[in-house]
Amino acid sequence: MQLAPSLLSADFARLADEAAVVADVADWLHVDVMDGHFVPNLTLGLPVVEALLKHASLPLDCHLMIDDPDRWAPGYAEAGARNVTIHVEAASAPVRTLRAIRAAGARAGLAVNPATPVEPYADLLHEMDMLLLMTVDPGFGHQHFLDVVLPKIRRARALIGGRDASVWLQVDGGVHEETIGRCAEAGADMFVAGSAVFGAADPAGVVTQLRGLAERAWAARPD
Ligand code: DX5
Ligand code: ZN
Repeated sequence: MQLAPSLLSADFARLADEAAVVADVADWLHVDVMDGHFVPNLTLGLPVVEALLKHASLPLDCHLMIDDPDRWAPGYAEAGARNVTIHVEAASAPVRTLRAIRAAGARAGLAVNPATPVEPYADLLHEMDMLLLMTVDPGFGHQHFLDVVLPKIRRARALIGGRDASVWLQVDGGVHEETIGRCAEAGADMFVAGSAVFGAADPAGVVTQLRGLAERAWAARPD
């Protein structure tokens, strides 16, 4: 069970301070890179990630919601991001780009939007370290969790394999105390939460609470 608070809901003028708040309880810091083209929102890019790398103690999980990730993704890995995730809907050469991310020393993630099926990418699983199933249409924080993705989480877990699988299964979007258990029960093992964490009075307490809920739901899984 890994928890990755998303800085999208943090105070962008105080990113290092916000990162420090969850440093002792989270596993990763999730950084949402949006370009205003692939998604209708604009956040931050490589210069901010480079600055954050100097101040954050947690590894950075960079989620690239950008056009042409083939061109830009390796740069995030070279800068020191520990995981770099590209969207399959945006990549023109996903295998080459996943390999370039790994070659630059980072874990490689592949993201699929809610309306994108996962089965066509089953043969690519050995090319990635993480599969990200979006549980909202990407672009904004604080959206409603899409229940329609739950069967896809189950099917993805079946494709990936059981508890000892090497590919992590991440969910992102609308993950909070009422939805994280359903995600874990369906087979997710890595959880991004933005507004639930950084919108709370006690972000670290929420991370700990979410981890407990995810662990209990995962332990109750039949297999
Ligand atoms: C949305 C981003 C998410 C976002 C999630 O497109 O990829 O990482 O921060 O925010 P919440 O947890 O508020 O849905
Ligand atoms: Zn994200």
